[in-house]
Amino acid sequence: MAKPEVLITGANGEIGQRLVEYLEEEGRYDIVALDLTEPAPELAEKTKAFYRGNILDKHLMDGIETHHRFEIIFHLAGVLSSTGEKNPMLAHHVNVDGSLNILQIAQNHSQASGKSVVFVFSSSIAAYGIRKEDDTTVPVSVRQYLTPMTMYGINKLYIEQLGRYYCTSYKGEEGEDSVKLDFRCLRFPGLISPQTVPSGGTSDYGPEMLHAAAQGKPYSCFVSPGTMLPFMVMSDAIRSLIMLSRAPEDQLRHRIYNVTAFSVTARQIMKKIEQYWPEAEIDFEPVLKRQAIVDSWPDRIDDGPARRDWDWHPEYDFDSAFDNVLVPHVRKRYENK
Ligand code: SER
Repeated sequence: MAKPEVLITGANGEIGQRLVEYLEEEGRYDIVALDLTEPAPELAEKTKAFYRGNILDKHLMDGIETHHRFEIIFHLAGVLSSTGEKNPMLAHHVNVDGSLNILQIAQNHSQASGKSVVFVFSSSIAAYGIRKEDDTTVPVSVRQYLTPMTMYGINKLYIEQLGRYYCTSYKGEEGEDSVKLDFRCLRFPGLISPQTVPSGGTSDYGPEMLHAAAQGKPYSCFVSPGTMLPFMVMSDAIRSLIMLSRAPEDQLRHRIYNVTAFSVTARQIMKKIEQYWPEAEIDFEPVLKRQAIVDSWPDRIDDGPARRDWDWHPEYDFDSAFDNVLVPHVRKRYENK
């Protein structure tokens, strides 16, 4: 019997690659993947179809819509915060217009099959905009401080709202009542993966510091030592995507959830890395623009609703993340290189 189909956009990105691997190993779905860049052959092999192209390409999107029938969509593709500030128009097109194209596929498939497509959207702490005078000693809830400073954050916030709209109020072009998609969204903190180094984001200093130390390369951190941000290891990010996607809909009291694991300063990350690589050369040379972006993100976010509604809890805190996952895997990755 044919398996149900899952679509993963941004499948060649940091989260996408791990999600493809997870789902392929599980064997529950036929994986349809989409990314702008060429995947490694080992990744492409895990999919039923890997489309190389742009989510803005209407012709390609129409083809994907026609050839498949998705039960679930993980929409991960996007232009990240630092790249988005260099090219805000591009960020807007990809993050907003591109997301709209994917939402429309989900909506049309929901309507055609009479069953709501589960649409999981990866949002971000970038949806927040904290000012100096705001009190962030208390973890920030999903409804607070929603005045993002970056194009990326503004785009994420808008798509969160658009997804909620599709799932609650959308009516087809003729105004007819339609089967609505089932929108679910996670606001991720900074993510750290032992397998890949991110690019174009502003939480990148955490993973960059780790990967540089493991390769014996000096690293100059672009935020000040006291800068604090919430983080999570990639395996926990994948778990949260899977858990949210499978939570019974009637248990979801929200459509948008924070998830987090530990909040640490850049100095704490450095100290942790120095425990393993005492010779690591790490210094701090804050870059004004990037520092301002990170300063506008909360130090701590409240993931209580995710814990209550779908039993979320991260597997790794700061120490176990580095001691049990990041350091051993990153060491392995670079040994003999
Ligand atoms: N990691 C992302 C970025 O830095 C935040 O979601 O842009």
